[in-house]
Parts: sequence; structure tokens; C-alpha cells
Amino acid sequence: MPILQCTDLCKTYKNGENAVHALRSVTVSFEQGDFCAVRGPSGSGKSTLLHILGGLEFPTSGKVYYQGEDLFAYNDNQLSILRRRRFGFVFQAYNLVQELTAYENILLPVLLDKRNPDEKYISMLVELLGLADRLHHLPNALSGGQQQRVAIARALANRPSVLFADEPTGNLDGKTGKEVLSLLKYAGKEMGVTLILVTHDLHIAEQAERIITLEDGGVADDV
Ligand SMILES: Nc1ncnc2c1ncn2[C@@H]1O[C@H](COP(=O)(O)OP(=O)(O)O)[C@@H](O)[C@H]1O
Ligand SMILES: [Mg+2]
Repeated sequence: MPILQCTDLCKTYKNGENAVHALRSVTVSFEQGDFCAVRGPSGSGKSTLLHILGGLEFPTSGKVYYQGEDLFAYNDNQLSILRRRRFGFVFQAYNLVQELTAYENILLPVLLDKRNPDEKYISMLVELLGLADRLHHLPNALSGGQQQRVAIARALANRPSVLFADEPTGNLDGKTGKEVLSLLKYAGKEMGVTLILVTHDLHIAEQAERIITLEDGGVADDV
């Protein structure tokens, strides 16, 4: 069984008289441990697809199944628990809590879940992402690359099975972006997570084992 799949996903945004068809009947599935890039030009529906697969946004029609379970049949509370425990998210803008240190940001998903942090696992993540000497810094005292590494550690803190990343290197310079991408890839493999990476950049997409190309809200290619 695929870990995650969607069937006939459509998403239409209505702006007054105008309708934007962000997704037009997208059907894809992902196996546990896959590293898949979703690429396509700006406006092709990449972020919309990622948000719906991750249960952050509802489709206009179509289904998403996580381990065979219909994601949108869950109530709000069940869906947010599933998101918190099974999914991790990394965004272009890092989205760290500015008032919390790097370490507190990393622990946040575990604490929100009212669980005791597994210190050994968290230390391993911190080592893996090269953050050991940055843990007590606030985000604004960290470089962009460091902030994104904190965001990746946070996304992995609850041992998710799927990690969603939307243009994770979009705010970083080329060299830092490469480093962050290889850490993301390495951490994904180490943890056995399914990594779904959205990017408009072909060079980045080429790091993946599979590339889904979106055009105008539809799957143009899947190789
Ligand atoms: N909240 C929204 N309201 C209206 N239109 C939206 C909204 N989000 C996205 N869109 C439109 O849907 C299309 C796909 O957007 P998006 O998924 O963000 O594309 P991408 O991530 O590939 O750049 C675009 O035309 C965009 O303008
Ligand atoms: Mg986008």
C-alpha cells in the first residue's frame, strides 16, 4: 500500500467572477521512503498540491489517502493530530517562532503533543544537522541556512513518516542551499521518511529519485 496517495484532486479558487483552477484532476501515489520532487513553473499548483497532500488545505474535489485512510474524512482534531505526528513541514521562510531558541523550536512539536522528548533522538537530529553549538540562539541570531536546519530538525522531531518541503532553499544562496538540500536528503534517508520536495528549480529537482512535473494544475510528467 502506498504511504500517501491522491486521486482526482481538483482545487478551484474563486476570486469574484474569476475561477482559478490550481489543480485539475491530479492522481499520484508515494511509497514509504520515496524522495520525490514536484516541479513546475510558478503558478502551476505545486504549493497547492503540497498543502492538500499534507492536510493543510481542503481540495474542491478528490481524495487524499494516508496509509489507506481518507484524510478528509477525519474531523479537525483528528486531522491536526495526524499532521502533528505523522507529517513534517519545511517552508521557504523557515517559519520559526522568533521568541524561542533553536532548541525550543525543535522541541515544539513534541511539547505540543504533550509528550516527553526522546533526548537521545533529538540529540541525534541536532548532530545530524550540525546544530550542536547553536541550540541556545534565537532565530534572528542564526544565518538563513542555520534557521532552515533548525526547521528541518523541528519537522523531524516527532519522527514523521512524510516530510513536505516547499522551496526549502528558496531564500538561501546557492552554496548554502546545496548544503541544506543535501542535509535534508540525508536526514530523510536516515529516518526512512518519505520526502516530497516542491521546487521550481530543475537542478534541485534532479537530486530526487522521482520528478513529478506540474503544468497548469495537471501532471505533465512523472519520471
Ligand atoms: N489562496 C488563493 N486564492 C486564490 N488563488 C490562489 C490561492 N492560492 C493559490 N492560488 C492560485 O492557484 C494557482 C497555483 O498556485 P500555487 O499552488 O501557489 O502555485 P506554485 O506553488 O506552483 O507557484 C496560481 O494561479 C495561484 O495564483
Ligand atoms: Mg509555491
